[in-house]
Amino acid sequence: MTIGRLITIEGGEGAGKSTVIDAIRGLLAGRGREVVATREPGGTPAGEAIRAILLDPTRSLLPETELLLMFAARAQLVRETILPALARGAVVLSDRFTDASFAYQGGGRGMDMGRIAELERWVAGIKPDLTLLLDLGVDQGLARARGRGGEPDRIEREDSAFFERVRTVYLARAASEPERWRVIDASRPVDEVVTQVRAELDAWLESLP
Ligand code: TMP
Repeated sequence: MTIGRLITIEGGEGAGKSTVIDAIRGLLAGRGREVVATREPGGTPAGEAIRAILLDPTRSLLPETELLLMFAARAQLVRETILPALARGAVVLSDRFTDASFAYQGGGRGMDMGRIAELERWVAGIKPDLTLLLDLGVDQGLARARGRGGEPDRIEREDSAFFERVRTVYLARAASEPERWRVIDASRPVDEVVTQVRAELDAWLESLP
């Protein structure tokens, strides 16, 4: 029986997650694996409605509200999509997961990490098998994100100091669990980033039992 796996992609704004996710989808599909791609917050009809509230720049949300809405969307996604897919033996590829709550709500907003860990145990209940961190300097990331045009969302409106705290937490989590994380230097041209991601993923897939 094929065992399902959860792969998550994390990073700050403008890190190039979408391009990398497309490349990984192609690589996994080429190996004959069923791939279920999703994103957080969102990924289910209820989760996407919650995402619209979370990212709406005209809304004012308390940090507690923001944290609980992130986990409300996650509760729905885990039960409705991720667990059934893993049970079928699929590879679930998620654009962000619980690590983002530690980085953004814990690091960015300064919320208690222990409380987030409690929510993780209760609501998520699963950890990724592999997490790719697309890491790049905050100023470069924000310039790229803002260069895409369009109105910045509620979280993109935060200042550089917020995103520096986000990055610090991501890097600390990656350093504390190196067997799960791969840190990718996302400041390079996108084709170089994709090449490294493919190599990391190939090596990881080969190492699986
Ligand atoms: P994205 O789809 O562009 O990555 O936007 C999602 C935003 O939500 C991004 O700014 C990161 C943020 N976020 C959190 O603050 N906490 C979370 O737990 C998750 C999943 C995302």
